[in-house]
Amino acid sequence: MDCIVINGGKSLKGEVSVSGSKNAALPIIVATLLANGNHKISGVPNLRDINTLAKLLTHLGAEIQFNENMEVNTHNINVFDAPYELVRTMRASFLVIGPLVARFGKARVSLPGGCAIGVRPVDIHIKSLEAMGVNIDIEQGYVTASCDELKGAHIYLDMPTVGGTENIIMTACLAKGTTVIENAAREPEIIDLVGALRTMGAQITGEGTGTIKIEGVLKLNPLNYAVIPDRIEAGTFMVAAGITGGDIFINNCPIKYMGATIDKLRETGIVIEEENGLVHVLSSGKINCVEVTTKPYPGFPTDMQAQMMALLSLADGTSIIRETIFENRFIHVAELDRLGASIKVEHDTAIIGGVKKLKGATVMATDLRASASLILSGLVAEGKTTVLRVYHLDRGYDCLEEKLKLLGADIYRTSENNL
Ligand code: EPZ
Repeated sequence: MDCIVINGGKSLKGEVSVSGSKNAALPIIVATLLANGNHKISGVPNLRDINTLAKLLTHLGAEIQFNENMEVNTHNINVFDAPYELVRTMRASFLVIGPLVARFGKARVSLPGGCAIGVRPVDIHIKSLEAMGVNIDIEQGYVTASCDELKGAHIYLDMPTVGGTENIIMTACLAKGTTVIENAAREPEIIDLVGALRTMGAQITGEGTGTIKIEGVLKLNPLNYAVIPDRIEAGTFMVAAGITGGDIFINNCPIKYMGATIDKLRETGIVIEEENGLVHVLSSGKINCVEVTTKPYPGFPTDMQAQMMALLSLADGTSIIRETIFENRFIHVAELDRLGASIKVEHDTAIIGGVKKLKGATVMATDLRASASLILSGLVAEGKTTVLRVYHLDRGYDCLEEKLKLLGADIYRTSENNL
């Protein structure tokens, strides 16, 4: 198994480019199931999760090629089940249920099961599909869905679920009549999915607001779309500059979707400015303590919580982070404490007592964003930090250690057998 080794203490300098957004690319790739033909998606990042989804679509009968674009040929979708071994490794696979039912009238998809950060049920997805006339049976860990006539519905989401909103939007594109989603998620990745669906001929309004309206159409055409840059990767680079007292320029940064993240990072003392199309991130290395509460977009993103915690572990004073989206997204605390951080968890709140320095150690990644927080801490910890199980990192970051090395970090990937 791969691990990443960092010798801390280097301030990052230079320019780095952001890859395409994982959380935009995944639903857009699923949307190809809605139409027969050759689809082209550019800006797809090279990630384990993308490869897992490509494996699932191939299982369903799609032909996929990765050239400078990702090309998906859906002429021959002839399998309508998504097996547990694929869905459990990447829960966004559950998104295929809507498009399969909408296009073929049937689907059998494994329940995703939980993951490290929480139970992550899909009850709202299922309730919404039933509201559109889909018959649902759940047994032996699988959801079997069938539908003779998919009809538009007025759906109120109990909570603004990102995946739930995406599943309903895609399904409603081919329903008979109008679908209105109230309390919809507003994330930029949903705006991007709608942009891609529009290139297919979908009739959608309201994306990015809490009310989204979809007029069903009889047929869609192949999509041709460029994925937005990844706002979470961009935020991770901003923290990397902040924690190392660095001075970097970020290219391809989706700054318009990063208001809450940038506002909070500025509050810690990091200077963030737009300069000639690049984003300049400058830090003296002094970090102010702050209070953070994760919220659905446009609030502070839960996917930046672990990275923020790494930064605040070195702040002057005590910071507070409240995690309101997932019930178990503080697993990185124990590992950060092994690097010398002083963090206590009480229910949904982490109390972070700023320390003067961190000291390198061997730590274990437990989930995607936790991996990033351990690497960020290793950049500044005294001595050597070894992060194990970086397959978690590879799910959502495209060559992160290479990009950090180009910014001057002393970091490399090796095998645990070589340690
Ligand atoms: C998406 O997950 C993202 N993943 C997550 O990013 C992100 O953390 C999350 O949205 C919140 O922003 C992708 O887009 C592939 P949700 P998703 O449905 O869609 C509860 C990362 O690090 N819920 O908005 O699964 C659920 O338990 C990943 O890139 C229900 O109760 O998130 C959770 O507490 C991690 N019932 C909350 O809603 C449902 O039917 C938010 O979940 C659905 C969700």
